[in-house]
Parts: sequence; structure tokens; C-alpha cells
Amino acid sequence: MVVATPITHLVLTACFFLACFNLPLPSLASSSSDFLRCLSTNVPSELLLTPGSPSFKPLLVSSIRNAKFVAPATARPPLCILTPTKASHIQAAVRCGRRHGVRLRVRSGGHDNEGLSYLSQRPEVFAVVDLAKLHTVRVDPREATAWVGSGTTLGELYYAVGKAAPGLAFPAGVCPTVGVGGLFTGGGQGLLMRKYGLSADNILDATIVDADGNLLQGKKAMGDDLFWAIRGGGGGSFGIVLSWKVRLVPVPPRVTFFNVTKTMEQGAVDAVTKWQTVAPALPDDLTVRVVVQQRQANFQSLYLGNCSGVVATLRDRFPELGVKYGDCREMSWLQYTAYLYFGDASNKIPLEVLLLNRTMTIGPFVKNKSDYVNKALTNNTWHNIFTWPLGGAAHGELILEPHGGRMAKIADAETPFPHRSGVLYNIQYVQFWNGTTAAGTNSIIMPNWINTMYDYMAPFVTKNPRAAYSNYRDLDFGVNKVVGGVSTYDSGKVWGERYFGANFRRLAMTKRKVDPADYFRNEQIVPPLL
Ligand SMILES: Cc1cc2nc3c(=O)[nH]c(=O)nc-3n(C[C@H](O)[C@H](O)[C@H](O)COP(=O)(O)OP(=O)(O)OC[C@H]3O[C@@H](n4cnc5c(N)ncnc54)[C@H](O)[C@@H]3O)c2cc1C
Ligand SMILES: *[C@@H]1O[C@H](CO)[C@@H](O)[C@H](O)[C@H]1NC(C)=O
Ligand SMILES: *[C@@H]1O[C@H](CO)[C@@H](O)[C@H](O)[C@H]1NC(C)=O
Ligand SMILES: *[C@@H]1O[C@H](CO)[C@@H](O)[C@H](O)[C@H]1NC(C)=O
Ligand SMILES: *[C@@H]1O[C@H](CO)[C@@H](O)[C@H](O)[C@H]1NC(C)=O
Ligand SMILES: *[C@@H]1O[C@H](CO)[C@@H](O)[C@H](O)[C@H]1NC(C)=O
Ligand SMILES: *[C@@H]1O[C@H](CO)[C@@H](O)[C@H](O)[C@H]1NC(C)=O
Repeated sequence: MVVATPITHLVLTACFFLACFNLPLPSLASSSSDFLRCLSTNVPSELLLTPGSPSFKPLLVSSIRNAKFVAPATARPPLCILTPTKASHIQAAVRCGRRHGVRLRVRSGGHDNEGLSYLSQRPEVFAVVDLAKLHTVRVDPREATAWVGSGTTLGELYYAVGKAAPGLAFPAGVCPTVGVGGLFTGGGQGLLMRKYGLSADNILDATIVDADGNLLQGKKAMGDDLFWAIRGGGGGSFGIVLSWKVRLVPVPPRVTFFNVTKTMEQGAVDAVTKWQTVAPALPDDLTVRVVVQQRQANFQSLYLGNCSGVVATLRDRFPELGVKYGDCREMSWLQYTAYLYFGDASNKIPLEVLLLNRTMTIGPFVKNKSDYVNKALTNNTWHNIFTWPLGGAAHGELILEPHGGRMAKIADAETPFPHRSGVLYNIQYVQFWNGTTAAGTNSIIMPNWINTMYDYMAPFVTKNPRAAYSNYRDLDFGVNKVVGGVSTYDSGKVWGERYFGANFRRLAMTKRKVDPADYFRNEQIVPPLL
């Protein structure tokens, strides 16, 4: 078989790791070839690529968004990548995988912050199920709903909705290449959340393949706990979601964007200090987020209305920002989704190319961390952030996303996402650097800005536990320990309560119900509460 060489490689790599971890050595080679044989009798060969194929590496890296993962992913590649076009292919992957001891990593958009959808930090043989081909969007404008394949990108979803149903939209994230599979399973925040909640708050139904390879079509078949868990409880833990039925939400024909910059000399510190309490209390139709970078703050809006409306509201609520008529741009919601990401360039490129382009140039190495703020920081704290060594993050930024509005009205336990009432805003810390990783190693050398900043912030943000957003996955919080073949609840609790608060326990009970053997496993999945 074509896989002979890659398997030898995998066995060698695995032996190296197994020695470190001191685990018994399973007979990887035989289970791997049995798995591939099992899969190839159930799936057309063109949908199954092994490392010997020339298309394998381009496919593997196709949706990697963080340059630091390219070398490790190609050095320790999956046994194969399956690109299913229907449910039975995914069912076969689960059944063959369980029978022959091969785990699956599911990938929708590939944006996982720690690369867990295609990269394992553990000595295990795994296959990638890449859902990119499951990207149909069926919009029902009359019912204001859509069925969305898990492999759809946000750009594809926005484009399909905006074209089929002008006047309707869907609340989700900013970056058009994020996959709905990962975004929805982790919550999904964006600039419509103050009006309509997270993506997960607008999911009406779904289909999923469970840990036994059964296809569960709809929430009745799934049961309340599982349907609850997949709407924010984190990707990869409970099954492979194939498609989602979502509620579309009304937007006016024109929405308003502005991007107002304040330098420190222009009062950025005072403006951000005030923004902390003003932004979460604005009318739900108006979201103003902030990007803090290089000693300045960019205030960016989405207003569901025209420019006069936003200028009037802010003159009243936030005169210090000084937003004028000339700062605004009115456009359709669909244009807005491109504009926010690509800025002025989006005027020069057709929307189609922007929104349907899954493969974008990969940037530098990135590390992200997140926090929630319940109590406004003082102007002195902001002053320290703006003047932090490294030029107030010359190669990094803080993105502040305001909560309030609809977000504050949803109970903490309604979905697994617990960061609801009382939250003023979410902080995402981002650090970029020009990294190098020698092929075959996983040594990612990171400058220290983000860690010292995160330590500095500890007294000012949520505590016990210090909360974080699960879609900004961060392995610094800890990874699961596996005992007796199952990820332990105690090791999961350490990171899990940061993401899910008190909901973590119900998630772990659900995991026990739907996957007690812990087949769907990675470094940070919800473990079963045994
Ligand atoms: C450039 C960029 C911009 C971002 N912007 C935002 C934003 O605006 N708002 C926001 O909320 N988040 C944002 N994120 C975070 C993003 O929501 C998460 O990284 C999300 O998990 C990505 O989903 P994906 O399908 O692209 O990722 P993947 O890497 O494919 O998947 C992420 C996780 O979900 C699992 N998974 C994927 N598909 C399925 C499925 N169908 N069934 C079960 N499990 C599945 C994977 O196994 C993996 O564990 C951004 C991330 C990046 C890199
Ligand atoms: C970190 O966040 C920034 C801003 O949202 C995003 O551009 C980047 O891709 C993210 N990186 C990772 C690894 O998630
Ligand atoms: C802006 O919107 C308001 C409220 O919907 C409306 O009354 C007004 O005429 C609009 N102004 C312009 C210039 O379109
Ligand atoms: C907002 O303004 C800043 C500073 O001028 C710029 O770097 C950034 O690209 C702008 N963002 C958008 C979305 O226009
Ligand atoms: C998609 O973007 C990449 C990187 O910017 C570019 O090289 C490629 O040509 C684009 N594809 C299409 C179809 O426009
Ligand atoms: C913070 O605000 C106080 C009171 O308004 C003021 O005296 C002080 O100078 C400010 N500090 C900074 C760093 O802006
Ligand atoms: C990476 O290197 C290039 C070229 O030297 C430089 O322009 C850029 O600012 C660097 N980026 C980061 C994030 O360090």
C-alpha cells in the first residue's frame, strides 16, 4: 500500500514519544493498515489521501491559519485525511476508527488556536476528517432559517445569506475563513452578539454522527443534553456535527461602520477607560469594539441603522469619542462583513472572491489568550497597558469585544457558554512574531510580551477561576491526563471551568452519556464524569 513509508515514520515518531511518556506500545502499524483497509471499502478512494499522495501536504496545510503549526503538522502528519461528501463516509470513519484503534481529529475551518483539528501533541496515530466539502448552505428566506454544512466558512455563510435573503443576517465571527463547525460548537462571538447573542444562541437544530457511528438527525434523536452540549461546549468532544439549522436575524438595508483612532496624545487612555462602561450599555443596535495596538486605540462600530443614528447616539452617550458624520460608512450587512476584515481593500475586490476564498496567505506565528472583565479597569491600569514595554505591543494587540444587550439576558446555564450577565467585555490578547521552527521539531520560541501582560492583568479580571473563551483555546491552562484509557475529570476541570464555569459538570455528564469510552479525544476535550 502507498502508506508503507509514512507508517514507518509514524511508528518511529511514536516510539520516541512513547519512551518519554512511558506508555505501553500498541501495535500501531497493523491497526493503521486495517483502519485504512476498512475505510477504503466504505469511502471512494479519491476522498481518502495518505501522506504518499502529492495532494496530501497541500490539503493538510490548506486551512492552517497559524504559521507556527505548519512544520509540526507536516513532520507528524495524520495517517490519512478523509474529505467526506456524505454522512455515511463519516460514520465509516468512526466505526473503522473504533474497531482498529485509530482516533479522529475533525476539521471544519482549521482555525483552532492550538491546531488540535489536525495536529496531535500526543504519541498517537490519528486520521483527519476534513469537512470542507460539506459546505452547502440552504437558505429559507420565508422562514428566516438556513441549513448550513459544518465545513462552510463564515464568508460562505454570509455570502449565501446576504444574496438569498437581503434583510437577513447571521450573528457570527469577524474572520471570513473561520469554519462554522468549530465556531458554533464553541459559541461564536461577533459584532451582532449584543443584539442577537452568539451563533450558538441561534442554532435551532443539527445532525451529528455519535461515538458509535450512528447518524442522529435532529435534536429529538440527540436528546436535550447532547443538543445543549454542542451549542458552545467545545468542538471535538461529543461527536461530529455534520450540519446546523440556524435562525437568521433581521438587519436593515444599510448598516454603519466607523473606525475612529485615538492616540495617547489624543486621549486614548481616557477614551478606553470610559468605553468600558459605556459600550456594554449602548442600545443593542450599536456595537463599538476596540483594538488597542502600538499606543493607540481603534474604535470600530457596527450600527444597525444609518450614520445620523450613530452620530446622535454617540454625541449623547460618548461625546469624548467625537464621532462625526464623515467618519461613517453606510453599506449593506454583507459588504460590512468584508469591510471589517479587509478594510478599504474590499472596495477594490469583488465580494465573491473575498468571501469565497478559503485559502488566504498565512501570516506570522501567533499566540492568543483571553480574559473577561466584570469591573472596569482604572485609567492608571490602561496607561500601563498602553505604555507596556515593547511599545504597547508593537507586534501584538488587545481586542476588546463589548458584552451587554442580549448577551446579558441569557442565563448562564442556557448554553454551555457561561460568560453572560455581569460581563462588561472580553479581551483577546494577540501576539505576532516571525518565528522559525526547524522541520520535525515542535519548538515554538515565543517572545514574552503576551505572558507578562497576562500575568499583569490577573488582579483586574475575573477570578476563581480566571475565565476564558473556549474558542480562543489555550493549552497553557492545562491538558487532560489519561488514566485507564480515559481522560480524567479532574485534569479537565482545571481548564474546563475557565471556559465553561459551572456548566463544565453537565458537559462532563453528557460526555459520559454519549461517549463513555472517550473515543473523541484530544488534549482538551470534555472528559466523561465517571
Ligand atoms: C483568524 C481567526 C479569527 C477568529 N475570529 C473569531 C471571531 O470573530 N469570533 C469567534 O467567536 N471566534 C473567532 N476565532 C476563534 C474560532 O472561533 C475558533 O478557532 C474555532 O474553533 C474555529 O473553528 P474552525 O472550524 O475554523 O476550526 P477547526 O480547527 O476546524 O475546529 C476547531 C475545534 O472544533 C472541532 N470541530 C470542528 N468541526 C467540528 C464538527 N463539525 N463537529 C465537532 N467538532 C468539530 C475541532 O476538532 C477542533 O477541536 C477566530 C480564530 C482565528 C484563527
Ligand atoms: C488570534 O487572534 C487574531 C485576531 O482575532 C487572529 O487574527 C489570529 O488568527 C488568532 N490566532 C490564532 C492562532 O488563533
Ligand atoms: C436615518 O434613519 C432614521 C431612523 O430610521 C430616519 O428617520 C432618517 O430619515 C434616516 N436618515 C437618512 C439621512 O437616511
Ligand atoms: C482602522 O484604523 C486603523 C488605524 O488607521 C487601521 O490600521 C485599520 O486597518 C483600520 N481598520 C479597518 C477595519 O478599517
Ligand atoms: C485567494 O487568496 C490567495 C492569497 O491571498 C490568492 O493567492 C488566491 O489567488 C486567491 N484565490 C482566489 C480564487 O481569488
Ligand atoms: C486618572 O484619572 C485621575 C482622576 O481623573 C487623574 O487625576 C489621573 O491623572 C489619571 N491618570 C492617568 C494615568 O491618566
Ligand atoms: C517580521 O519581519 C519583517 C521583515 O523583517 C518585518 O517587517 C515585520 O515587522 C516582522 N513582523 C513581526 C511580527 O515581527
